[in-house]
Amino acid sequence: MRNHKPNNLHIRLYGDKTLREIAKPVTEFTDEVKNFIDDLVFTMYEKDGVGLAAPQVGRSLRIFVVDPFWFNDEGKKNPLVLINPEFKEFQGEVESEEGCLSLPRIFESVKRAEKVIIKGLNENGEKVRYEADGLFSRALQHEYDHLNGILFVDKVPKLKRIFLKKKLHELQSTTDENGKNIGELLL
Ligand code: NI
Repeated sequence: MRNHKPNNLHIRLYGDKTLREIAKPVTEFTDEVKNFIDDLVFTMYEKDGVGLAAPQVGRSLRIFVVDPFWFNDEGKKNPLVLINPEFKEFQGEVESEEGCLSLPRIFESVKRAEKVIIKGLNENGEKVRYEADGLFSRALQHEYDHLNGILFVDKVPKLKRIFLKKKLHELQSTTDENGKNIGELLL
């Protein structure tokens, strides 16, 4: 039996290399991986996120967690774990504002599919399938992108990205090669 007290993990910020890597599939559901997933869930709530992907804490693995409703559902927590996920269907298009724990203080409008169907494995290695719309759909697409080294600012139209550059540069210049925030002004 596992007896693991979850850790609040350090979030890698824009500029960190792991955020830009293609994450590797999970092949074994060891206690170490399960403990790590506990840490990921714990950290998502500690940092007030609606989702968190393994690369954001420096682990290049195809794992993310989401809970898009806990902050408005009387704080009821219902974390969903997706391992080696794959989208099976995309429907429609909708634009809405996004943020990311790895890009503090940056919020931009991003186009995403309105509805998605995603398949993957849960923390016990069992197959799961979710049909999602609204914030749930958006969170799944945002977190999935992290597994392929894609950040939401990459999806902002070019013209808008020019205005973003300064903010991104500031963020990057206060981040060391491990994504550790070394600046005073941000965060
Ligand atoms: Ni993110």
